[in-house]
Amino acid sequence: MSFEMQGDELHAEGVSLAAIARAVGTPAYVYSEAALRSAADAFTTALAGVPRARRMFAVKANPNPTILRTLARLGFGADIVSGGELALALQAGIAPKDIVYSGVGKTPGELATALAAGIGRFNLELEREGEVLSALALARCVRAPALLRVNPHIDAHTHAKISTAMADSKFGIAYGEAAAMYGRLAALPGLDLHGVAVHIGSQITDLAPLRATYRRIGQLIARLRAEGHRITHVDLGGGLGVSYRDGEPAMDMAAYGAMVVQETQDWGVTVLFEPGRFIAARAGVLLTRVLWVKPALPHPFVIVDAAMNDLARPALYDAWHEFSAVQATPDRFVANIVGPVCESSDIFARARVVDRVREGDLAVFHTVGAYGAAMASTYNARPLVPEVWVEGARFAVIAERLPAAAVRPHRLPEWTASRAVARLA
Ligand code: LLP
Repeated sequence: MSFEMQGDELHAEGVSLAAIARAVGTPAYVYSEAALRSAADAFTTALAGVPRARRMFAVKANPNPTILRTLARLGFGADIVSGGELALALQAGIAPKDIVYSGVGKTPGELATALAAGIGRFNLELEREGEVLSALALARCVRAPALLRVNPHIDAHTHAKISTAMADSKFGIAYGEAAAMYGRLAALPGLDLHGVAVHIGSQITDLAPLRATYRRIGQLIARLRAEGHRITHVDLGGGLGVSYRDGEPAMDMAAYGAMVVQETQDWGVTVLFEPGRFIAARAGVLLTRVLWVKPALPHPFVIVDAAMNDLARPALYDAWHEFSAVQATPDRFVANIVGPVCESSDIFARARVVDRVREGDLAVFHTVGAYGAAMASTYNARPLVPEVWVEGARFAVIAERLPAAAVRPHRLPEWTASRAVARLA
Protein backbone atom coordinates (compact mmCIF):
# COMPACT_ATOMS: atom_id res chain seq x y z
CA MET A 1 0.00 0.00 0.00
CA SER A 2 1.04 3.57 -0.56
CA PHE A 3 0.39 5.09 2.86
CA GLU A 4 1.92 2.75 5.42
CA MET A 5 3.88 2.64 8.63
CA GLN A 6 7.57 2.02 8.00
CA GLY A 7 9.18 1.42 11.34
CA ASP A 8 7.18 3.66 13.66
CA GLU A 9 6.51 6.39 11.12
CA LEU A 10 3.82 6.80 8.48
CA HIS A 11 5.17 7.12 4.95
CA ALA A 12 3.80 8.00 1.56
CA GLU A 13 5.55 5.41 -0.61
CA GLY A 14 9.24 5.92 0.24
CA VAL A 15 8.87 9.37 1.78
CA SER A 16 8.33 10.07 5.45
CA LEU A 17 5.36 12.34 6.06
CA ALA A 18 7.34 14.07 8.79
CA ALA A 19 9.89 15.06 6.14
CA ILE A 20 7.13 16.50 3.98
CA ALA A 21 5.77 18.46 6.95
CA ARG A 22 9.26 19.85 7.62
CA ALA A 23 9.61 20.89 4.00
CA VAL A 24 6.19 22.38 3.25
CA GLY A 25 4.46 22.84 6.60
CA THR A 26 0.94 21.78 7.48
CA PRO A 27 -1.80 21.31 6.55
CA ALA A 28 -0.91 19.80 3.18
CA TYR A 29 -2.47 17.31 0.80
CA VAL A 30 -0.09 14.48 -0.10
CA TYR A 31 -0.75 12.28 -3.14
CA SER A 32 0.83 8.96 -4.05
CA GLU A 33 1.52 8.27 -7.71
CA ALA A 34 1.50 4.52 -7.07
CA ALA A 35 -1.91 4.65 -5.39
CA LEU A 36 -3.39 6.70 -8.21
CA ARG A 37 -1.96 4.37 -10.83
CA SER A 38 -3.12 1.28 -8.98
CA ALA A 39 -6.73 2.53 -8.77
CA ALA A 40 -6.68 3.56 -12.42
CA ASP A 41 -5.34 0.13 -13.38
CA ALA A 42 -7.94 -1.62 -11.20
CA PHE A 43 -10.67 0.30 -12.99
CA THR A 44 -9.27 -0.53 -16.41
CA THR A 45 -8.89 -4.21 -15.51
CA ALA A 46 -12.43 -4.45 -14.14
CA LEU A 47 -13.80 -3.19 -17.45
CA ALA A 48 -11.49 -5.19 -19.68
CA GLY A 49 -14.47 -7.31 -20.79
CA VAL A 50 -16.33 -4.29 -22.23
CA PRO A 51 -15.26 -4.21 -25.88
CA ARG A 52 -15.55 -0.47 -26.52
CA ALA A 53 -15.04 1.21 -23.15
CA ARG A 54 -13.83 4.80 -22.84
CA ARG A 55 -12.63 6.03 -19.46
CA MET A 56 -13.10 9.72 -18.65
CA PHE A 57 -11.83 10.91 -15.26
CA ALA A 58 -14.33 13.19 -13.51
CA VAL A 59 -12.09 16.24 -13.14
CA LYS A 60 -14.24 17.66 -10.32
CA ALA A 61 -12.89 14.96 -8.00
CA ASN A 62 -9.34 16.29 -8.32
CA PRO A 63 -8.38 18.88 -10.93
CA ASN A 64 -4.69 19.04 -10.03
CA PRO A 65 -2.72 19.16 -13.32
CA THR A 66 -0.26 16.45 -12.20
CA ILE A 67 -3.18 14.11 -11.47
CA LEU A 68 -4.79 14.88 -14.84
CA ARG A 69 -1.52 14.37 -16.73
CA THR A 70 -0.83 11.09 -14.98
CA LEU A 71 -4.30 9.81 -15.82
CA ALA A 72 -4.05 11.04 -19.40
CA ARG A 73 -0.90 8.93 -19.79
CA LEU A 74 -2.87 5.96 -18.45
CA GLY A 75 -5.46 6.41 -21.19
CA PHE A 76 -8.09 8.49 -19.40
CA GLY A 77 -10.00 11.31 -21.02
CA ALA A 78 -11.90 13.87 -18.96
CA ASP A 79 -15.45 14.46 -17.78
CA ILE A 80 -15.74 18.21 -17.20
CA VAL A 81 -18.43 20.48 -15.77
CA SER A 82 -17.13 24.00 -16.38
CA GLY A 83 -15.00 26.17 -18.62
CA GLY A 84 -12.33 26.07 -15.93
CA GLU A 85 -12.20 22.29 -16.01
CA LEU A 86 -12.11 22.41 -19.82
CA ALA A 87 -9.02 24.62 -19.69
CA LEU A 88 -7.33 22.34 -17.13
CA ALA A 89 -8.08 19.20 -19.16
CA LEU A 90 -6.70 20.75 -22.35
CA GLN A 91 -3.62 22.08 -20.53
CA ALA A 92 -3.01 18.57 -19.20
CA GLY A 93 -2.73 17.35 -22.76
CA ILE A 94 -6.06 15.51 -22.92
CA ALA A 95 -7.24 15.39 -26.54
CA PRO A 96 -10.43 17.40 -27.10
CA LYS A 97 -12.16 14.33 -28.54
CA ASP A 98 -11.57 12.58 -25.20
CA ILE A 99 -13.49 15.24 -23.27
CA VAL A 100 -17.15 14.95 -22.34
CA TYR A 101 -18.96 18.01 -20.99
CA SER A 102 -21.49 17.21 -18.26
CA GLY A 103 -23.25 19.65 -15.98
CA VAL A 104 -26.69 21.04 -15.40
CA GLY A 105 -25.88 24.71 -15.98
CA LYS A 106 -23.36 25.25 -18.73
CA THR A 107 -23.34 28.89 -19.85
CA PRO A 108 -23.76 29.74 -23.54
CA GLY A 109 -20.21 31.11 -23.41
CA GLU A 110 -18.89 27.83 -22.04
CA LEU A 111 -20.79 25.88 -24.70
CA ALA A 112 -19.26 28.06 -27.42
CA THR A 113 -15.73 27.68 -26.06
CA ALA A 114 -16.04 23.91 -25.76
CA LEU A 115 -17.47 23.71 -29.27
CA ALA A 116 -14.58 25.77 -30.63
CA ALA A 117 -12.16 23.43 -28.83
CA GLY A 118 -13.75 20.47 -30.63
CA ILE A 119 -14.60 18.36 -27.58
CA GLY A 120 -15.88 14.83 -28.02
CA ARG A 121 -19.41 15.35 -26.77
CA PHE A 122 -21.84 17.37 -24.71
CA ASN A 123 -24.20 15.67 -22.28
CA LEU A 124 -27.39 17.72 -22.60
CA GLU A 125 -29.41 18.37 -19.45
CA LEU A 126 -32.42 20.23 -20.87
CA GLU A 127 -34.07 20.97 -24.18
CA ARG A 128 -33.17 24.67 -24.31
CA GLU A 129 -29.53 23.81 -23.86
CA GLY A 130 -29.76 21.60 -26.95
CA GLU A 131 -31.41 24.38 -28.95
CA VAL A 132 -28.77 26.92 -27.96
CA LEU A 133 -25.95 24.47 -28.68
CA SER A 134 -27.46 23.67 -32.08
CA ALA A 135 -27.60 27.37 -32.97
CA LEU A 136 -24.00 27.90 -31.83
CA ALA A 137 -22.88 24.94 -33.94
CA LEU A 138 -24.75 26.13 -37.03
CA ALA A 139 -23.07 29.51 -36.71
CA ARG A 140 -19.73 27.68 -36.93
CA CYS A 141 -20.97 25.41 -39.74
CA VAL A 142 -20.50 22.29 -37.61
CA ARG A 143 -22.73 19.84 -35.79
CA ALA A 144 -22.26 19.48 -32.05
CA PRO A 145 -21.83 15.88 -30.89
CA ALA A 146 -24.26 15.28 -28.02
CA LEU A 147 -25.89 12.74 -25.73
CA LEU A 148 -29.09 13.31 -23.76
CA ARG A 149 -28.76 12.80 -20.01
CA VAL A 150 -31.65 10.80 -18.67
CA ASN A 151 -32.87 10.66 -15.07
CA PRO A 152 -34.04 7.06 -14.55
CA HIS A 153 -35.63 7.87 -11.16
CA ILE A 154 -33.64 5.27 -9.27
CA ASP A 155 -32.49 5.60 -5.68
CA ALA A 156 -28.73 4.97 -5.61
CA HIS A 157 -28.81 4.05 -1.89
CA THR A 158 -26.21 6.62 -0.98
CA HIS A 159 -26.11 9.91 0.96
CA ALA A 160 -29.04 12.16 -0.05
CA LYS A 161 -26.70 15.02 -0.95
CA ILE A 162 -24.87 12.91 -3.52
CA SER A 163 -27.89 11.18 -5.07
CA THR A 164 -28.72 12.55 -8.49
CA ALA A 165 -31.55 10.44 -9.87
CA MET A 166 -34.39 10.95 -7.44
CA ALA A 167 -37.71 12.12 -8.89
CA ASP A 168 -37.09 15.63 -7.53
CA SER A 169 -33.45 15.82 -8.63
CA LYS A 170 -32.30 18.70 -10.86
CA PHE A 171 -30.26 16.41 -13.11
CA GLY A 172 -31.19 14.91 -16.47
CA ILE A 173 -34.49 14.50 -18.29
CA ALA A 174 -37.21 12.47 -16.59
CA TYR A 175 -37.22 8.96 -18.01
CA GLY A 176 -40.83 9.26 -19.16
CA GLU A 177 -40.10 12.37 -21.22
CA ALA A 178 -36.72 11.35 -22.58
CA ALA A 179 -37.78 9.58 -25.80
CA ALA A 180 -40.00 12.40 -27.01
CA MET A 181 -37.40 15.03 -26.23
CA TYR A 182 -34.72 12.92 -27.89
CA GLY A 183 -36.80 12.96 -31.07
CA ARG A 184 -37.13 16.75 -31.01
CA LEU A 185 -33.43 17.33 -30.32
CA ALA A 186 -32.32 14.79 -32.92
CA ALA A 187 -34.18 16.84 -35.54
CA LEU A 188 -32.14 19.98 -34.82
CA PRO A 189 -29.74 20.68 -37.70
CA GLY A 190 -26.81 21.73 -35.49
CA LEU A 191 -26.83 18.66 -33.25
CA ASP A 192 -25.35 15.26 -33.86
CA LEU A 193 -27.33 13.45 -31.16
CA HIS A 194 -26.03 9.92 -30.92
CA GLY A 195 -26.88 8.39 -27.56
CA VAL A 196 -27.78 8.86 -23.91
CA ALA A 197 -26.01 9.50 -20.62
CA VAL A 198 -26.90 8.63 -17.04
CA HIS A 199 -25.39 9.16 -13.58
CA ILE A 200 -27.43 8.27 -10.52
CA GLY A 201 -25.17 9.35 -7.69
CA SER A 202 -21.82 9.00 -6.01
CA GLN A 203 -20.22 6.67 -3.43
CA ILE A 204 -22.44 3.79 -4.56
CA THR A 205 -21.50 0.41 -3.12
CA ASP A 206 -24.66 -1.49 -3.99
CA LEU A 207 -24.72 -3.04 -7.46
CA ALA A 208 -28.51 -3.33 -7.64
CA PRO A 209 -29.43 0.31 -8.40
CA LEU A 210 -26.74 0.48 -11.08
CA ARG A 211 -28.01 -2.71 -12.70
CA ALA A 212 -31.58 -1.41 -12.60
CA THR A 213 -30.39 1.83 -14.20
CA TYR A 214 -28.56 0.08 -17.03
CA ARG A 215 -31.63 -2.10 -17.70
CA ARG A 216 -33.71 1.05 -18.09
CA ILE A 217 -31.13 2.58 -20.35
CA GLY A 218 -31.12 -0.61 -22.45
CA GLN A 219 -34.89 -0.36 -22.83
CA LEU A 220 -34.65 3.29 -23.80
CA ILE A 221 -31.99 2.56 -26.42
CA ALA A 222 -34.21 -0.14 -27.93
CA ARG A 223 -37.13 2.26 -28.07
CA LEU A 224 -35.07 5.08 -29.59
CA ARG A 225 -33.69 2.73 -32.23
CA ALA A 226 -37.18 1.49 -33.01
CA GLU A 227 -38.09 5.13 -33.60
CA GLY A 228 -35.28 5.37 -36.14
CA HIS A 229 -32.56 7.04 -34.07
CA ARG A 230 -28.88 6.28 -34.37
CA ILE A 231 -27.41 5.31 -30.99
CA THR A 232 -23.65 4.80 -31.01
CA HIS A 233 -22.56 5.99 -27.54
CA VAL A 234 -23.86 5.54 -24.00
CA ASP A 235 -22.31 7.32 -21.01
CA LEU A 236 -22.82 5.39 -17.77
CA GLY A 237 -21.43 8.12 -15.51
CA GLY A 238 -19.39 7.57 -12.37
CA GLY A 239 -20.39 6.86 -8.80
CA LEU A 240 -18.42 3.78 -7.77
CA GLY A 241 -17.88 3.77 -4.03
CA VAL A 242 -14.69 3.19 -2.05
CA SER A 243 -14.21 2.07 1.54
CA TYR A 244 -13.60 4.99 3.89
CA ARG A 245 -13.27 3.02 7.10
CA ASP A 246 -12.10 -0.37 8.19
CA GLY A 247 -14.73 -2.96 7.41
CA GLU A 248 -16.88 -0.65 5.27
CA PRO A 249 -17.70 -2.32 1.96
CA ALA A 250 -16.54 -0.78 -1.31
CA MET A 251 -17.95 -1.42 -4.76
CA ASP A 252 -16.91 -4.93 -5.80
CA MET A 253 -15.21 -4.04 -9.06
CA ALA A 254 -15.06 -7.56 -10.46
CA ALA A 255 -18.81 -7.90 -9.90
CA TYR A 256 -19.37 -4.44 -11.37
CA GLY A 257 -17.35 -5.26 -14.48
CA ALA A 258 -19.21 -8.54 -14.98
CA MET A 259 -22.56 -6.79 -14.52
CA VAL A 260 -21.67 -4.10 -17.07
CA VAL A 261 -20.66 -6.74 -19.61
CA GLN A 262 -23.91 -8.62 -19.01
CA GLU A 263 -26.17 -5.59 -19.25
CA THR A 264 -24.46 -3.81 -22.15
CA GLN A 265 -23.21 -6.60 -24.42
CA ASP A 266 -26.16 -6.36 -26.80
CA TRP A 267 -26.16 -2.60 -27.03
CA GLY A 268 -23.53 -2.41 -29.77
CA VAL A 269 -22.29 0.97 -28.59
CA THR A 270 -19.16 2.64 -27.24
CA VAL A 271 -19.61 2.82 -23.47
CA LEU A 272 -18.24 5.82 -21.57
CA PHE A 273 -17.41 5.82 -17.87
CA GLU A 274 -16.80 8.87 -15.69
CA PRO A 275 -15.21 7.67 -12.46
CA GLY A 276 -13.87 10.31 -10.09
CA ARG A 277 -13.77 9.08 -6.51
CA PHE A 278 -12.79 5.50 -7.35
CA ILE A 279 -9.68 6.73 -9.14
CA ALA A 280 -8.48 9.50 -6.84
CA ALA A 281 -9.87 9.04 -3.31
CA ARG A 282 -7.32 6.55 -2.03
CA ALA A 283 -4.40 8.39 -3.61
CA GLY A 284 -4.41 11.24 -1.09
CA VAL A 285 -4.07 12.07 2.61
CA LEU A 286 -4.40 15.39 4.38
CA LEU A 287 -1.37 15.95 6.59
CA THR A 288 -2.13 18.02 9.66
CA ARG A 289 -0.58 18.99 12.98
CA VAL A 290 -2.23 18.86 16.38
CA LEU A 291 -2.38 22.43 17.67
CA TRP A 292 -3.90 21.78 21.08
CA VAL A 293 -5.57 19.09 23.07
CA LYS A 294 -8.39 20.70 25.01
CA PRO A 295 -9.65 18.74 27.98
CA ALA A 296 -13.43 18.29 27.97
CA LEU A 297 -16.09 15.90 29.17
CA PRO A 298 -16.90 13.32 28.13
CA HIS A 299 -14.07 13.47 25.57
CA PRO A 300 -11.20 15.86 24.87
CA PHE A 301 -11.06 18.00 21.72
CA VAL A 302 -8.05 17.41 19.52
CA ILE A 303 -7.72 20.71 17.66
CA VAL A 304 -5.77 20.18 14.44
CA ASP A 305 -4.56 22.81 12.00
CA ALA A 306 -6.67 21.43 9.10
CA ALA A 307 -10.29 22.53 9.00
CA MET A 308 -13.56 22.24 7.12
CA ASN A 309 -12.35 24.75 4.54
CA ASP A 310 -9.52 22.34 3.63
CA LEU A 311 -11.65 19.18 3.77
CA ALA A 312 -15.38 19.86 3.60
CA ARG A 313 -16.73 16.31 3.35
CA PRO A 314 -17.31 15.65 7.07
CA ALA A 315 -19.16 18.95 7.53
CA LEU A 316 -21.18 18.55 4.32
CA TYR A 317 -22.00 14.84 4.24
CA ASP A 318 -21.10 13.59 7.74
CA ALA A 319 -18.34 11.76 5.92
CA TRP A 320 -15.91 9.55 7.82
CA HIS A 321 -12.19 9.91 7.17
CA GLU A 322 -9.81 7.73 9.15
CA PHE A 323 -7.46 9.72 11.38
CA SER A 324 -4.06 8.36 12.34
CA ALA A 325 -0.86 9.63 13.88
CA VAL A 326 2.29 9.93 11.78
CA GLN A 327 4.50 8.74 14.67
CA ALA A 328 3.22 5.50 16.15
CA THR A 329 1.54 6.12 19.51
CA PRO A 330 1.66 3.63 22.36
CA ASP A 331 -2.10 3.63 22.79
CA ARG A 332 -5.43 5.08 21.71
CA PHE A 333 -8.08 7.25 23.33
CA VAL A 334 -11.58 8.52 22.67
CA ALA A 335 -11.57 12.07 21.33
CA ASN A 336 -13.32 14.61 19.15
CA ILE A 337 -11.14 15.77 16.26
CA VAL A 338 -11.92 19.35 15.26
CA GLY A 339 -10.51 22.15 13.16
CA PRO A 340 -9.97 25.81 14.07
CA VAL A 341 -12.82 27.27 11.98
CA CYS A 342 -15.53 29.09 13.91
CA GLU A 343 -18.37 26.70 13.09
CA SER A 344 -19.68 23.83 15.15
CA SER A 345 -19.74 21.80 11.94
CA ASP A 346 -15.94 22.05 11.72
CA ILE A 347 -15.61 18.62 13.26
CA PHE A 348 -13.88 15.65 11.63
CA ALA A 349 -14.68 12.96 14.19
CA ARG A 350 -16.95 12.77 17.19
CA ALA A 351 -16.24 10.49 20.15
CA ARG A 352 -13.95 8.35 18.04
CA VAL A 353 -11.25 5.96 19.20
CA VAL A 354 -8.06 7.34 17.67
CA ASP A 355 -4.30 7.26 18.19
CA ARG A 356 -3.46 9.12 21.39
CA VAL A 357 -1.97 12.23 19.79
CA ARG A 358 -0.51 15.13 21.74
CA GLU A 359 0.19 18.80 21.12
CA GLY A 360 2.56 19.22 18.16
CA ASP A 361 2.08 15.71 16.78
CA LEU A 362 1.55 15.11 13.07
CA ALA A 363 -1.46 13.13 11.86
CA VAL A 364 -3.34 12.45 8.66
CA PHE A 365 -6.89 12.14 7.42
CA HIS A 366 -7.07 9.28 4.95
CA THR A 367 -8.84 8.77 1.61
CA VAL A 368 -9.07 12.45 0.70
CA GLY A 369 -7.65 12.37 -2.84
CA ALA A 370 -11.14 12.91 -4.28
CA TYR A 371 -13.31 15.90 -3.32
CA GLY A 372 -10.67 17.05 -0.82
CA ALA A 373 -8.50 19.84 -2.19
CA ALA A 374 -11.03 20.15 -5.01
CA MET A 375 -13.64 21.50 -2.60
CA ALA A 376 -11.38 23.69 -0.45
CA SER A 377 -12.26 27.29 0.26
CA THR A 378 -10.61 30.23 2.01
CA TYR A 379 -13.29 30.54 4.69
CA ASN A 380 -12.03 32.29 7.82
CA ALA A 381 -9.40 33.88 5.52
CA ARG A 382 -7.42 30.66 5.63
CA PRO A 383 -4.94 29.88 2.85
CA LEU A 384 -5.52 27.14 0.30
CA VAL A 385 -3.13 24.40 1.41
CA PRO A 386 -0.30 23.04 -0.75
CA GLU A 387 -0.50 19.74 -2.60
CA VAL A 388 2.49 17.40 -2.66
CA TRP A 389 3.18 14.61 -5.13
CA VAL A 390 5.11 11.52 -4.08
CA GLU A 391 6.67 9.12 -6.51
CA GLY A 392 8.88 6.44 -4.94
CA ALA A 393 11.47 8.19 -2.81
CA ARG A 394 10.86 11.65 -4.31
CA PHE A 395 8.35 14.36 -3.55
CA ALA A 396 7.47 17.68 -5.14
CA VAL A 397 5.08 20.52 -4.38
CA ILE A 398 2.50 20.48 -7.20
CA ALA A 399 0.25 23.25 -5.84
CA GLU A 400 1.58 26.09 -3.74
CA ARG A 401 0.10 27.25 -0.49
CA LEU A 402 -1.98 30.25 -1.52
CA PRO A 403 -2.18 32.96 1.15
CA ALA A 404 -5.85 33.83 1.56
CA ALA A 405 -5.28 37.56 1.24
CA ALA A 406 -3.61 36.99 -2.11
CA VAL A 407 -6.35 34.82 -3.60
CA ARG A 408 -7.47 37.81 -5.63
CA PRO A 409 -6.64 41.48 -5.68
CA HIS A 410 -8.85 43.54 -3.40
CA ARG A 411 -9.24 47.29 -3.39
CA LEU A 412 -11.18 49.90 -1.48
CA PRO A 413 -13.89 51.79 -3.35
CA GLU A 414 -12.06 54.78 -4.79
CA TRP A 415 -14.49 57.24 -3.16
CA THR A 416 -13.55 56.07 0.33
CA ALA A 417 -9.95 56.83 -0.55
CA SER A 418 -10.80 60.34 -1.76
CA ARG A 419 -12.96 60.87 1.34
CA ALA A 420 -9.99 60.03 3.50
CA VAL A 421 -7.83 62.40 1.49
CA ALA A 422 -10.45 65.15 1.78
CA ARG A 423 -10.57 64.67 5.52
CA LEU A 424 -6.81 64.89 5.71
CA ALA A 425 -6.79 68.10 3.66
N1 LLP B 1 -20.31 12.07 -13.70
C1 LLP B 1 -21.20 12.97 -13.28
C2 LLP B 1 -22.21 13.47 -14.21
C3 LLP B 1 -21.18 13.41 -11.95
O1 LLP B 1 -22.08 14.29 -11.52
C4 LLP B 1 -20.19 12.90 -11.06
C5 LLP B 1 -20.12 13.36 -9.68
C6 LLP B 1 -19.25 11.97 -11.56
C7 LLP B 1 -19.36 11.57 -12.89
C8 LLP B 1 -18.18 11.37 -10.71
O2 LLP B 1 -18.71 10.64 -9.67
P1 LLP B 1 -17.79 9.73 -8.75
O3 LLP B 1 -17.24 8.62 -9.59
O4 LLP B 1 -16.70 10.59 -8.21
O5 LLP B 1 -18.69 9.27 -7.67
N2 LLP B 1 -18.54 16.04 -3.38
C9 LLP B 1 -19.18 14.77 -3.18
C10 LLP B 1 -19.33 14.00 -4.47
C11 LLP B 1 -20.09 14.76 -5.54
C12 LLP B 1 -20.19 14.02 -6.84
C13 LLP B 1 -20.77 14.87 -7.89
N3 LLP B 1 -20.86 14.25 -9.19
C14 LLP B 1 -18.41 13.98 -2.13
O6 LLP B 1 -17.38 14.46 -1.64
O7 LLP B 1 -18.82 12.89 -1.75
